[in-house]
Amino acid sequence: MKVTLSIIKADVGGFVGHSDVHPALRACAEDNLAEAKKKGLIIDYYRGECGDDVALIMTHDKGPDNQEIHRFAWETFEKMTEAAREYGQYGAGQDLLTDAFSGNLRGMGPGFAEMEFEERASEPIICFLADKTEPGAWNYPLFKMFADPFNTIGLVIDPSMHEGFRFEVHDLQEETKIIFNTPEEMYDMLVFIGAPGRFVIKHVFRKGSDEPVAVTSTQRLFLMAGRYVGKDDPVMAVRCQSGLPAVGEALEPFAFPYTVSGWMRGSHHGPFMPVGMDDDTPTRFDGPPRVVALGFQLKDGMLVGPRDMFGDKSYDNARRQALDVADYLRRHGPFEPHRLPLDEMEYTTMPKVMEKLKERFKKLEGTERDH
Ligand code: F6R
Ligand code: MG
Ligand code: MG
Repeated sequence: MKVTLSIIKADVGGFVGHSDVHPALRACAEDNLAEAKKKGLIIDYYRGECGDDVALIMTHDKGPDNQEIHRFAWETFEKMTEAAREYGQYGAGQDLLTDAFSGNLRGMGPGFAEMEFEERASEPIICFLADKTEPGAWNYPLFKMFADPFNTIGLVIDPSMHEGFRFEVHDLQEETKIIFNTPEEMYDMLVFIGAPGRFVIKHVFRKGSDEPVAVTSTQRLFLMAGRYVGKDDPVMAVRCQSGLPAVGEALEPFAFPYTVSGWMRGSHHGPFMPVGMDDDTPTRFDGPPRVVALGFQLKDGMLVGPRDMFGDKSYDNARRQALDVADYLRRHGPFEPHRLPLDEMEYTTMPKVMEKLKERFKKLEGTERDH
């Protein structure tokens, strides 16, 4: 059967500050999801979360970008916002950038990652949910999973993976997209995806098929709002096994706590720490940025799971390393490279400070430029 997996997420209020979700918001999300399932709008659901972001993980038969599904998510976030107001939660309604729903969530604030596919006889899927970082954070692990033989030995020894994969990359600044074939165009692709603040992998496909095997949320709040409104805290879904990366190959990139943008005030570099579901609560300096991995087996569209994939001991070293990197970077305080470079700070206080001081900047005299 054809099934659609939709992960739609938003931060509509934090408990306490930007660190977690209040039980009242969780209950509200769950009541709404249960109701939607009862009415037959969705086949199944799981309410996920990471930090102050709630993810509605849903299966249905309506395809991506479906108005009813998007409206349901929007209305659920609105109701959760009411609960957030009732309990005085921090930043209530923060990701709902417009007043009314208008057909589709595009440009409205919530992030979404959706894919439609023919459910295989056994369909293992991992949903990755992140907090305190941006969509480009998925570029590194997706490249490792689907294009790096040092991560994914299947690319070398599984005949059904040996051809490689296709990556759809979006330029979020110019609003364009391009498809890269790997391994042939790997070096071309790396020129772009190595700059994750602008170029973001949206989908991965098998060669010769338009059915996605991985999808990410690519919404950037500051581009929508034109001002700083927190980081986007993205989500991603990856299908695994039988000609796709094994579950362990999909998890492997996170054994290295690579550096991402985000953390405090969305303005710092920090280690991306894989955590179990009980540890998804960024605290130190509002971080460090973190990711949970929820493993599901799909059965006729039902989400059997989740298993808490990063709860496993084998990720302890990655966490330890992440904490050491956090110590090291924190000591830089307001200095780069801990703080993001200026061009990535343009939606923060930088323009105002510049405006205030611009008269006081005087031309240098007698410098080499005069000669
Ligand atoms: C980062 C994040 C937090 C806030 C910080 C300041 O994505 O959500 O680090 O940026 O706590 O928050 P405000 O400006 O709401 O006081
Ligand atoms: Mg928040
Ligand atoms: Mg968040």
